[in-house]
Amino acid sequence: MAEHLVLAPSENKTERYETLLPQIKALTSGEKDTIANLANIAAALKQTFNFFWVGFYLVKENTKTDEKQELVLGPFQGPIACTRIGYGKGVCGNSWKEGRTIVVPNVNDFPGHIACSTDSKSEIVLPAFKNGKVFLVLDVDSDRLNNFDETDASYLAQLMKIIEAAA
Ligand code: SME
Repeated sequence: MAEHLVLAPSENKTERYETLLPQIKALTSGEKDTIANLANIAAALKQTFNFFWVGFYLVKENTKTDEKQELVLGPFQGPIACTRIGYGKGVCGNSWKEGRTIVVPNVNDFPGHIACSTDSKSEIVLPAFKNGKVFLVLDVDSDRLNNFDETDASYLAQLMKIIEAAA
């Protein structure tokens, strides 16, 4: 296993993802523990991009209400965050429900956005699938408006494939 993360020498977003993804693949391929892998992935994304908040919400059985499942906070880097998110709630709950990537250039324009921090200004959420169903989402928040684009969506989608392969 790699002892430390090699960072891209330039600020270029594409180069950063190109440097990061093979390392994440190497880091996770020999490890079957999903939480351990997600924890290192959150740390690697934080180290590479210094995102305001980056982490995972996992689909789990809901023991408290009638709703069958909900998202529960998993490994992350950044300020403390909401612990549980319902199906179809917020950006994360919508990504889970619709099974697709959601890019939010301005969180104030997303109806039902869940503000874990008022410093969060833009956001991207991507789902990962197991047996044809969403089993977790990756949530990345920025303290700058309009911080995520097609480059992020495309490379983070590759990351979700790595997570699916390792799960
Ligand atoms: N903003 C997210 C909630 C999670 S936190 O931002 C970490 C949402 O609307 O689903």
